[in-house]
Amino acid sequence: MQPIIETERLFLRPFKLPDASRVQELAGDIEVARTTLSIPYPYPDGAAESWISACNHNSDAGNGFPFALVSKESNVLIGCMSINIASPHQRGELGYWLGRAFWGKGYATEAAKALIHYGFEDLKLNKIWAAAMAANPASSNVMTKVGMKFEGEFKQHILKGDKFEDLVYYGMTRMDYENMRS
Ligand SMILES: CC(C)(COP(=O)(O)OP(=O)(O)OC[C@H]1O[C@@H](n2cnc3c(N)ncnc32)[C@H](O)[C@@H]1OP(=O)(O)O)[C@@H](O)C(=O)NCCC(=O)NCCS
Repeated sequence: MQPIIETERLFLRPFKLPDASRVQELAGDIEVARTTLSIPYPYPDGAAESWISACNHNSDAGNGFPFALVSKESNVLIGCMSINIASPHQRGELGYWLGRAFWGKGYATEAAKALIHYGFEDLKLNKIWAAAMAANPASSNVMTKVGMKFEGEFKQHILKGDKFEDLVYYGMTRMDYENMRS
């Protein structure tokens, strides 16, 4: 069962269907869609509801755990941090976005640290990784700030709109995690 995780300023909790309009409002911002690998723009009506249903299904099946990031101070949903699981390899992939008004305040770093702890301690993963567009330094900064290491760059790996984008990959093995904590 997907837990509720508490950090200094956030609750990380499963998404619920009533979150759909807020998800559409935040993720429907072109500046959020621009650097994500899978958020469409324009964000279609009904897509948030379908996505939340898929999240819950994935979570029930143990394939991935998408967490709504909720400000403790305002009780408002500000973004998403998910960990998708490749069980045969005991590996998790982080994916995340925040509403534009909440950028640059350390929230993604705070949530990523919590999911790394969850991934290694509770899910017993051996590795956590993430990918970002090379043209998205904020995301690369989040990954390095939580202790993930640069693993490489894939040139023109995805087509986003009408442009081929380079992707950068970052990772943390269980050994890295244990060394970081000791
Ligand atoms: C990427 C994203 C989640 C970062 O969230 P955030 O809460 O602002 O991240 P944090 O505040 O924890 O850390 C961001 C870091 O990048 C830095 N940064 C932000 N914009 C930057 C830029 N254009 N160039 C270089 N560094 C930048 C910040 O200064 C901060 O580093 P610092 O703490 O050393 O100052 C957010 O920008 C976002 O949602 N973007 C749109 C969606 C997206 O790109 N998701 C990731 C897909 S891989």
